[in-house]
Amino acid sequence: MMKRCSELYLDMLMILVMLGTPIAMFLSVMLKIYNRLFGSKSVKSIAGEIAVVTGGARGLGKLISIELAKQGCHIVIADIDLKQAEETANYLSDSYKVNAKAYKVDVSNYEEVVELNKNIIHDLGKATILVNNAGIMLFTDPSNPDWKEVQRMINVNLTANIWTNRVFLENMKEVGKGHIVAISSVAGITPFPFHPEYTSTKYAIRGLMQVLRIDLKMEEKFRNIKTTSVFPTFLNTNANILEMLKSSTFSKIAVAHDGEKVAKRIIQGILQNEEEISVPEIKLAFSKCTDLWPVEIFDRIVKRILLKEEK
Ligand SMILES: NC(=O)c1ccc[n+]([C@@H]2O[C@H](COP(=O)([O-])OP(=O)(O)OC[C@H]3O[C@@H](n4cnc5c(N)ncnc54)[C@H](O)[C@@H]3O)[C@@H](O)[C@H]2O)c1
Repeated sequence: MMKRCSELYLDMLMILVMLGTPIAMFLSVMLKIYNRLFGSKSVKSIAGEIAVVTGGARGLGKLISIELAKQGCHIVIADIDLKQAEETANYLSDSYKVNAKAYKVDVSNYEEVVELNKNIIHDLGKATILVNNAGIMLFTDPSNPDWKEVQRMINVNLTANIWTNRVFLENMKEVGKGHIVAISSVAGITPFPFHPEYTSTKYAIRGLMQVLRIDLKMEEKFRNIKTTSVFPTFLNTNANILEMLKSSTFSKIAVAHDGEKVAKRIIQGILQNEEEISVPEIKLAFSKCTDLWPVEIFDRIVKRILLKEEK
């Protein structure tokens, strides 16, 4: 009887929360509009902090590194491609008068990440900003990917984030401040048809960051360690992705966004401690709304949009 009552109580609570959803969404949109119009959110300074950008040698990671350097951060380019990482680090130190250093590391290898942290502490000091950007998006044969490539994608897109968070969070806890950024994708908030492996890794990152965010809020002493999850759509930073977009039906519903603008938006999010950012901005709210739709309707619409017209 007692069990039945508490179950009923929980059901009622969940129904109340569901009924409150439109009000919560309305308030959140109003707050966003207010912040956009009046810029009321305070901005923190990250000048002098050491930022690690995984996969920072090229693409979005490089653009994020540039924006962080403009804010006066010292930059660690942690990339598997040492030559390109060194070129980027040299460009940053020459252009922005900050310390920038390249390290060759496979971020999906736990021991290499531990070693990386030791080397950074020895060479520059404790890193307090971590941008988990390294990622793999495409397979050599997308319709029948080799299992080793699939495993590699999971290792880089997901496992690496678990390792880097674990290692660098320790620095942040010791110093009492920090910021962890995860570059997920819109494929982390809405299914990306024909790309089950990529979608799975990006959904997983969203879960990882949600738990991290909540765990940090549980302890008052970690209140200055913040998280930001980023959900971008297609970017113009990657030629292979642009090619895929052009030749697929996704071009009917998506455009490639300017990587530089996206990097600037991410830094603004860090400075204002924003916890979730999507590009385009409306995509996050849109995905949360479509999650409420009956699956039959959602799937029917997606099928209608993405299936090539019959000849
Ligand atoms: N390009 C897009 O359209 C797009 C859209 C949404 C999300 N994203 C996400 O943004 C991030 C960056 O995308 P991008 O287009 O700039 O990618 P990119 O392929 O241009 O660059 C990725 C970088 O990661 C490095 N890297 C790969 N494996 C690594 C490893 N094991 N250890 C260390 N470094 C490694 C590469 O050497 C490269 O420098 C990815 O996480 C991607 O999923 C990209």
